[in-house]
Amino acid sequence: MVKVAILGSGNIGSSLISSAISRGYEVIGTGRTDVTLRRVLELGAKATSNNQEAISTSDLILISVKPQHFPDLVRGTTRNIWRDKVVVSVMAGVRLETLKRIMEGASVFRAMPNINATVKMSTTALTGDGRGKELVETFFKGLGSTYWINEDFMDVWTALIGSGPAFVSEIIDSLVLGAVASGMPRELAYSAVLDMLEGTARNLRSHKGHPAEVRDNVITPAGTTIRGLKVMEEKGVKAALIETVESASKRASELGRVIDGRIKEDTERW
Ligand SMILES: NC(=O)c1ccc[n+]([C@@H]2O[C@H](COP(=O)([O-])OP(=O)(O)OC[C@H]3O[C@@H](n4cnc5c(N)ncnc54)[C@H](OP(=O)(O)O)[C@@H]3O)[C@@H](O)[C@H]2O)c1
Repeated sequence: MVKVAILGSGNIGSSLISSAISRGYEVIGTGRTDVTLRRVLELGAKATSNNQEAISTSDLILISVKPQHFPDLVRGTTRNIWRDKVVVSVMAGVRLETLKRIMEGASVFRAMPNINATVKMSTTALTGDGRGKELVETFFKGLGSTYWINEDFMDVWTALIGSGPAFVSEIIDSLVLGAVASGMPRELAYSAVLDMLEGTARNLRSHKGHPAEVRDNVITPAGTTIRGLKVMEEKGVKAALIETVESASKRASELGRVIDGRIKEDTERW
């Protein structure tokens, strides 16, 4: 049985623990406070505040602390403990090169799941190469879908797929408010919009062509849809959404540079 250590059992760490437990992995979760350790036990994993112990007893190590807490975590371990381990960081912004320098001799990967991991429907980017690649992919497939991507795309991924659930939620809320403004009860509109979105996603996936083709199939000359689309054009909705992702992506790069730089500095003398 694969032994997994989750270093940092917060929001994302708890999702990783639940998913691993439900698939029969032997799991040890770490945290600094009693509240975190109790949560780990409730999820059915072993709990410890000792990261060194968790690493030494596990084959696959997942790092899910906030990046600013990573240097402290590292300082609480010995250099040799990472050797020959398969390590996956889910920390946003911390580059593979930095992680490899710190965790000498480990096979290192990065994963970028999203909040939908809580319902086992994360869309997770994976990057890295080497020993343990299959183990890493199998683990993250338990949380939803996985994509191996070039590390250069991690910041765009963070904007599109990491922040994506927030953007889509905002759009859904707007559509629902439009229905409410037209007289429909909110609960009915909300439930129907969620069904419609799932259906549209499945339809687009089965269609395989460009989404504009599906859009055009809905349009009747002088009908309802074209009237709505004209408003979307007039209000610049498409341009706004393009800029939304572009801007978020730039911010992810900026933050990544700062985070990575700080971690390099903070771990230089370790
Ligand atoms: N949330 C998301 O949707 C998401 C998505 C993708 C990636 N990420 C990445 O996932 C990481 C965690 O995010 P989060 O939202 O889950 O944060 P979070 O809820 O704050 O969880 C971080 C956990 O780390 C623990 N921790 C801090 N220092 C530690 C140490 N030295 N040893 C052991 N545990 C320690 C904390 O436990 P104590 O409170 O007990 O100290 C806390 O429970 C971040 O790096 C973020 O970039 C998050």
